[in-house]
Amino acid sequence: PENVGILAMELIFPAQYVDQTELETFDGVAPGKYTMGLGQQKMGFCNDREDVHSLCLTVVQKLLEKNNIRHEEIGRLEVGTETILDKSKSVKSVLMQLFEPHGVTDLEGVDSTNACYGGTAALFNSIAWVESSNWNGRYALAVAADIAVYAKGPARPTGGAGAVAMLIGPNAPLVFDRGIRSTYVKHAYDFYKPDLSSEFPAFDGKLSVQCYLSAVDNCYQSYRKNVAKRLGKNVDLNDFHAVIFHSPYGKLVQKSLARLDLNDYLLTPKELRSQKFPGLEQFTNVKLEDSYFDRDVEKAFLTHSQETFVAKTKPSLFMSSQIGNMYTPSVYGCLASLLISKNISELAGHKILAFSYGSGFVSSMFSITVGKDTESLQKIAANLSQIKCLLNSRQKVQPHKFEAALELKQEIAHKAPYTPVGCIEHFFPGTYYLTKIDEKRRRFYERV
Ligand code: ACO
Repeated sequence: PENVGILAMELIFPAQYVDQTELETFDGVAPGKYTMGLGQQKMGFCNDREDVHSLCLTVVQKLLEKNNIRHEEIGRLEVGTETILDKSKSVKSVLMQLFEPHGVTDLEGVDSTNACYGGTAALFNSIAWVESSNWNGRYALAVAADIAVYAKGPARPTGGAGAVAMLIGPNAPLVFDRGIRSTYVKHAYDFYKPDLSSEFPAFDGKLSVQCYLSAVDNCYQSYRKNVAKRLGKNVDLNDFHAVIFHSPYGKLVQKSLARLDLNDYLLTPKELRSQKFPGLEQFTNVKLEDSYFDRDVEKAFLTHSQETFVAKTKPSLFMSSQIGNMYTPSVYGCLASLLISKNISELAGHKILAFSYGSGFVSSMFSITVGKDTESLQKIAANLSQIKCLLNSRQKVQPHKFEAALELKQEIAHKAPYTPVGCIEHFFPGTYYLTKIDEKRRRFYERV
């Protein structure tokens, strides 16, 4: 099959949020730290009625209903998540509750886990299946969902929650380029969840940023090499209409775009640098691995890439600034934001560069070619625009209530039996919610 890619897309997020300016005051940090310093505006969070199962049930069912796809048309279902509930039992198995009533039980795929990268693993598996000898002509569905919560402290404002589902098949309007994607994987304890009794991760913030930036550099270098080898041409940032990233917070994404600019600079032959990058001569001997926290390098390339950032990356940060770090869905939320920020005819025929990162750590860079069939892309964008409207109908919750909700979730993380007490009145139509956890820790759901 040719032109394998995204045929339809659904995105969901919690119906309640906390305002980052109010959180700054509540946490007693300097005004602007979360909003200007991290680049975040609002943060979605779940009460005890929602868990990763309910998020996945909601996003899958909504995608199928809105696009008139029958359950029988799905032949592979993959889930990427780092929010683990039943440990040995996959979230994918929970989703079978949607398919079994339709007689669908021949559905390959299970869960993929490696921090925020699981969604990309689910996506790559889905693409590989459609391109493989085992493909049976049906669609693949790649789902990414997480609830990102941190203990009280500097990382708390970098939480979030949400889910994305992507329908994968041939002749798509968003096509994954073949044979050129790159991957960079290393062992690091930058962020992990060793305490199974807690929802909160153990992490080293500075190390996680360093690992992330090193992954950006290495993936981009390999991606450029792969393109040169396969297509015989040198690409740089000018070749992409948009550049999207996994977004823990907007500021890190802006710094990452600046890193790509630095990479372009260092990969430009020395004799051409001053012509192509005037005023940056003093950085000619910079070493990537020594410069992650070099303020002079950072400032110079942030300034130099400012226009590129505004044109190619900033539009993709809308959802993440309003919802926060959704973990596995994050980079796909950025893709969704990009699609609704642009005139579709402007995107047609162009390339989008994407970077996915999951702590621990695994990262990949890949590109998407936007097809010229603007009608099907328009359909995806129209649905996403409706979703954007839902962002404004969320309920704002005061920081002390947000904190209480997180404390309650932490308290009941392993309680059984348990009957949730959270309010569902403000949930969006079609949302699945938890009704009870029985004495055997089995979970039951209903739909608003
Ligand atoms: N106004 C404007 N900016 C401010 C203000 C203010 N009043 N106060 C601080 N800032 C700026 C700082 O200068 C800094 O900017 P810089 O990055 O350009 O230096 C920024 O706000 C962050 O402040 P710091 O004090 O440097 O960092 P902090 O201790 O708040 O921690 C961190 C930030 C490390 C990102 C933390 O939130 C964290 O650990 N998060 C979780 C891990 C994470 O997301 N890692 C990213 C990759 S891995 C993943 O996706 C999970």
